[in-house]
Amino acid sequence: MEKGWISELYFEGKRAVRAFDQNPVARELREGEISENDYVFYLKQAMSYVELSPERLYFAGSRLVGRYPGLARAMMQKADEETGHDTWAFRDMRALGRRPQEIRQIPLCDATRALSHWSSFVAEKGNPVGFFGIAFVLEYLAPARGHRIARNLRARSTIPGITSAIRFIAGHAEADTGHVKAIVEAIRIVERQSDIDAILHSARVTSETYPQLLQRANG
Ligand SMILES: [Fe+2]
Repeated sequence: MEKGWISELYFEGKRAVRAFDQNPVARELREGEISENDYVFYLKQAMSYVELSPERLYFAGSRLVGRYPGLARAMMQKADEETGHDTWAFRDMRALGRRPQEIRQIPLCDATRALSHWSSFVAEKGNPVGFFGIAFVLEYLAPARGHRIARNLRARSTIPGITSAIRFIAGHAEADTGHVKAIVEAIRIVERQSDIDAILHSARVTSETYPQLLQRANG
């Protein structure tokens, strides 16, 4: 059992899982019963967030070099880990027969825009340590639900060709196991209250927005 502010960070991870489970479209995804349109809509939202993550992580890391060199390295390593994950989502949509032109036309929902703008602000203008709060919640949620989603999509989904279109979810469930612990070990050295607040605040923004990326494709 973690003590102090780290336990508050775990609380935000759990809040994200709870919000995910309470979202009807996310529940359908979890049970392998999501419609093809809603699934593609989600992949587009995730792709649009993820495609800008590496450069944001790298930028946030570069702003930490003087103050927290160890955290700067950890963040840049994370940038490398995330590189190419947007391609997973893109290929999943292509595997379902969506043409690039169609994918481009899928709109972004408010939650996607909010999370994307927030992460851009944190990386470029806000307190860059806060980016660990975003990464923590995303990497807490991925293995917490990703394995079950991948299993249920394979076993139950009636979407034609689904088994070739789950790389984004299956890949994250796999890759992010262990990442949560690595983040926690890295950020234990943070003691300044304003930095702790920045991490927890970004974690909260993420736990409120990311589960809402799951929405009905037709609004
Ligand atoms: Fe990723």
